Order: sequence, then C-alpha cells, then structure tokens
Amino acid sequence: MAVNEKSVKRAADLRSQLQKASYAYYVLDAPDLPDSVYDRLYRELQALEAQHPELLVTDSPTQRVGAAPAEQFTSVAHNIPLYSLENAFDIEEYKDWQARWQRLEPDVKEADAVTELKIDGNALALTYENGVLVRGVTRGDGITGEDITQNVRTIRTIPLRLRMEEGPSGKQTPPPVLEVRGEAFLPLDVFEAINKKREAEGTALFANPRNAAAGTLRQLDAQVVADRQLDFFAYTLIMPAGTGDVTAPSDQWAALECLQALGFRVNPNRKVCGSAVEVFDYYSDWEEKRHDLPYLTDGVVVKLNSFELQDRLGFTNKFPRWAIALKYPAEEVPTILESVTVQVGRTGAITPVAELSPVQLAGTTVSRATLHNADRLAELDLHIGDTVIVRKAGEIIPEVVRTIVDLRPEGAQAYHLPSTCPVCGQPVVKPEGEAVTRCVNRSCPAILSGSIRHWASRDAMDISGLGDRWVQQLLDQGLVASVADLYDLTLAELLTLDRMGEKLATKLVSAIAQSKQRPWAKVLYGLGIRLVGSTNAKLLAENFRSAQVLSETGGDAIARVYGIGPEIAQSVRQWFVVPANGELLERLAAAGLQLEAAAETEGAGPLPFAGQSFVLTGTLPTLKRSEAKGRIEAKGGRVSGSVSSKTDYVVVGENAGSKQEKAEKLGIRQLSEEALLELLGE
Ligand code: IVH
Repeated sequence: MAVNEKSVKRAADLRSQLQKASYAYYVLDAPDLPDSVYDRLYRELQALEAQHPELLVTDSPTQRVGAAPAEQFTSVAHNIPLYSLENAFDIEEYKDWQARWQRLEPDVKEADAVTELKIDGNALALTYENGVLVRGVTRGDGITGEDITQNVRTIRTIPLRLRMEEGPSGKQTPPPVLEVRGEAFLPLDVFEAINKKREAEGTALFANPRNAAAGTLRQLDAQVVADRQLDFFAYTLIMPAGTGDVTAPSDQWAALECLQALGFRVNPNRKVCGSAVEVFDYYSDWEEKRHDLPYLTDGVVVKLNSFELQDRLGFTNKFPRWAIALKYPAEEVPTILESVTVQVGRTGAITPVAELSPVQLAGTTVSRATLHNADRLAELDLHIGDTVIVRKAGEIIPEVVRTIVDLRPEGAQAYHLPSTCPVCGQPVVKPEGEAVTRCVNRSCPAILSGSIRHWASRDAMDISGLGDRWVQQLLDQGLVASVADLYDLTLAELLTLDRMGEKLATKLVSAIAQSKQRPWAKVLYGLGIRLVGSTNAKLLAENFRSAQVLSETGGDAIARVYGIGPEIAQSVRQWFVVPANGELLERLAAAGLQLEAAAETEGAGPLPFAGQSFVLTGTLPTLKRSEAKGRIEAKGGRVSGSVSSKTDYVVVGENAGSKQEKAEKLGIRQLSEEALLELLGE
C-alpha cells in the first residue's frame, strides 16, 4: 500500500514525541509522559513502520534494538585519535604539569580550567551526519576502534537524532558532520543486578563495572546490550566551525553546554576554576563525595578552558598538553577471588595472597593482592569465587579490604590457612595475641632462600649476579645453608650448578668477595632483623658503631635513638639473644665482613642528615623531586609527604602551596634548592 502524506506526517510526529519523552525520562530524569501513553505511541509507530517499511529511518525510537545480531565488528580508523590523559596523583605533580605548559606559553600566567569528574568507563566516539547518529566506535587503541553502532543505539542517553532548538525561522539545521566523545558506563546498581543474575545462572561474574561495560559494548546481540542498561556522559564535542545553525563553541565550558543542548547527558558536577587552589578544592571535595555517586569515578579531569590555548599547546604523541587527570590515590575496585596462594617470607611469616581476576587499579593491572595474615583472613571470611574489593594506595601493594557476601556463589568453599608450611611441611605457629602465622623451622628452604636473596640485594650486600635461580640451586644442592656459607664457596663448587659457566662463576666469586667491603650499616640491614629496614639500619649503625657494641646495648638505650623506638629496639634485642645469630656474626667476622663502622673522616660525617626530616614542595629549578629525595636520603635524611612539628626542613620550589604556609606557621626552616645543595655539600 502506497504511503500517504498523512502517515508520513504521523510517523514524524510520533518519532518526535517519543524522542522528547525518552529524553525527559533518561537524560533529564524527569518523565513527562506516563509509561502507558509512551507504550501506546511506541506501538502505533511500530505498526505504521511495519505497514510502510519505507517510513523506517535509522533514528526511529523503535530502532534502538532493531537489528539482528552481528557476526562480528568491523575496525574503523578514528578521524582524530582518541588520546589518553597524563595522570597526576597530587598537587605537586599537578603543578609540574602546569609549569610545563606555562613554559610553552610564558605570556599566559594562570588560565581558566574546566574540572570534570573522571568517569570510570569506556570511551566512545559517536558520529552524527545531518543530526543523525550514524556511527559509534570504541576507543580501541586510540587510533582504530570497533564499529559497535548497533549497540550504541541501545543506550538511551545517546540521542539517535540531535535535539535542535527552535530558531526564529523554525527548526535549526544541524551541522553536516559532528563527533561527540564521552564515557559509556554501567551504573553501580545495574552492575550489581547483572552480577546477581549471572550468579543465579552460574555464569562467571564481572570483576567490576568497567569490565562489565566493556564486555557489554562488545556483545554481538544488541538485545543483550539493551537489557544491560548502559549509560553515557558526553564530554568532547568536535565540530567544524561555520556549518549548520549550531555555533561552534570556543571553549570547553561552552562545548559542554552545547552537548547538553544537543540532547546528551553531560555530567552536572563540573566547574570553571581560575587557580590551582580551586582545582584542588574541587579534587579534594570529590574525593569524599564520589562515594555517594551512583557510578564509579577514578579522579577528576582538568582541561584548559580556551580552545585557542588548547590548539596552541597541542598534543604529545600520547596526551593532550592542555589536560591532565588528577587521580585519587587510594582506589577500590571489585573483582573476583579465584584462589588463595601462600607465601613464606624470609622471616618465616606466612602471607596469604589473593589470586584475582585481573582488574585495573590506580593505573596498573592487579591480579594479586595481599590478605596480610590469619586475623585478616578471618575478618574477611573469604570463600573462593567471592566478589572482593581490592584497594591500592600510592605505592603500597594492593590489598583485599572487603568481601561482598551478598554476591557469594552458592556452594562456595571457605578458605582457611594451611596448618603446615607449604614449603617445608612443618607445622606453622601462631603465637597468642600475634596476627602473623610463622614457619619456625630455621632450615625451611623458603626462609633460607629469602634471607640469602635479601642479603645479596642492592641495598644490602649488593652481590650482582646472585639471582634467584642460583640461590635456589645452591640451597637445593646443599652448598649453602646460611649467608656465611656464601663466603666459603669455591669456583669449583659454583661450576657444579646447572648452566653455570666459567666466566659467570668467576664473576660471582669476585662479587661475593667484593661484598666484604660493604659498610657496617649495610651488613646490619642485610641480616634481615625484623623491622630493621635500610633507614633504621643506618641509624643504628651510626649510633652503635659495631656489632659487638649493639649486641651489648640494652633495649632502652636502643629505643632512645631518634627514629627507632621500643618496638624496633625489642626486635633487635631478640635477634641478638639467639645463639645461632651470635655464631653467624662470628663466622661473618672471620670471613672479613665489616661488622664495625669505618673510622670517621674529619669534618662532616658520612651521614650529616641522619635523623633529620625533610619535606619537598613546589617545582625545584633543576632537580626532579625523585632526585632531591635520593640525595637527601643518601646523606641519611628522611623525606616525608607532610609538614609537622617534627619536620626539620621544608625545601621550597616554585608554586609551593599549603606545605610552605604550614612551615611558616610552625616556624620550620625553609630551604631553596640552592641552599639544599649547599647543605649537601654539592
Ligand atoms: S577527556 C584528550 N574527560 O579517561 C581528552 N576523559 O584516562 C581525553 N574519561 O580515555 C579525554 N571521564 O575514557 C575526558 N570527563 C572526562 C573523562 C574522561 C573519563 C576517560 C576517557 C579517557 C580516559 C583517560
């Protein structure tokens, strides 16, 4: 039946009414049409389209889940690459970034920046031709992505047709081509519901909302995608100037408003900031508030507002120079506990380790996390297959912080620490009142190999070439049973090791001999006394100038050393009272190791900063932060992140912030880089 004008008009009206209603419902979250009315209109449009297939257009609301499942997705090259963002984790790194772009634009002192939430989802690039969505592509590797248009259409907050404002002469014309970028994500409640359903069906659970969203976007059956209720926040508008009736915005703020006017969901928690302080207030504010949001965020994104400035700054080969992601240091993400393994450390401590479905956390992929000890295990009540929350704060090893008991698969097995050492098979011991379970078998191969590796490590005896595989063989063959045995090893003995050649063996013998020259502080650290890390070893070695003196010193006197304290002192005492340790020291002394400090040279001692605490703030003129830190530590000083009354010096660079203010308040000495170098004697 030929389609008449009335039907054409009716179909267009229905599309427009349904589009409006869907926008109000999904994007504005303010429904303006009862569901029953929406359904009636929707069915009327469906019927019309069935009767007159020529009325069917790709942006019809009936086409969100129209097409048959795809065979596979095709690769599409992005017109403009999807860059990723450089990360900063604190104000100093943020200011470093600011200083870098300001060097390129010396005339611009402080520029307005737009701060937005960093949505933890999957980036999408959407192309609209003459106002109609024609393509949706995943980020892929940033250069090429996958065409997932069918799936993108199912996302209710992505308009199939751009909203065009009424102008003086009727509806305005959209630009011929326009690209919108943003983040597709799964709201937390939807993520939880999906995993609950999968659990009931016995399918593998998604580790976190981002993985679930990524998996959903790559589903071949768009019906499945529609059921999963993905959402989308738009944050980038790419529009050639001077086309259509939409005025091309000249800054990011206007672009976000424009995206909103075009019918997209734009995150409302955005701000224009005029200074680094304002940026930081926004960042700190959201560090707390983000936990109340119904979706995950992993930081904030700061973009210089002016497009003109953005264009002048351009891109490095990876990142825009005009934007940066300020990430939150401690991140928590859910993932699945696949199994638990047990590690035996050099002190015999038994550490349970969670083996996890790999998950992105603070910029790295995490597949293992510590479970600390038996007490923590008991608190966590872990079952294999549990959904657990892992957290990573700064440099600290990831840890499992919580179990989501509600998501536990049926019949999941509870996990308990073994009662014997997994390496030597001897019973383990958990002293009353202590959290740590230990293997107390002094000849446990795990303890021996751990202590030898520690002894040979860079900060201790620095025996290069004595890698794990050799340590293992030396132990297996019974050539070594303590670090003292290393000094009795002969070339002939080393040559009996599998794959050991003459050259390597000679090098190793000489490296072991050279290690006899390491100073007393390094030897002390190498002994691996509990709680005596390299800094504490330096402090102790400086105050107690030989093993003999230290072994004869009482706990109280040790505890009085600045920075040591009673717990460490007690651990040192406990070590020295074990007869086997006394024998070890005797053998080391006989082998020619330095169990005494070298005679002091005149003038400044070797560690003039020992026991002193430094804080670095701002951008230093020549030294990187890591360099400044390294040099201070090399002279015995400590570098900490925050200023307190115990801080001795604050090293102040350009754009220093609150730390300098605090130093002033507390009357702490401030140093320029130059003054620091002078103090260092450089
Ligand atoms: S802007 C060149 N804004 O974060 C501009 N990205 O780590 C690059 N993201 O790939 C993107 N929220 O997937 C921008 N408000 C936001 C964002 C955001 C989340 C994602 C995006 C990007 C990744 C970079």
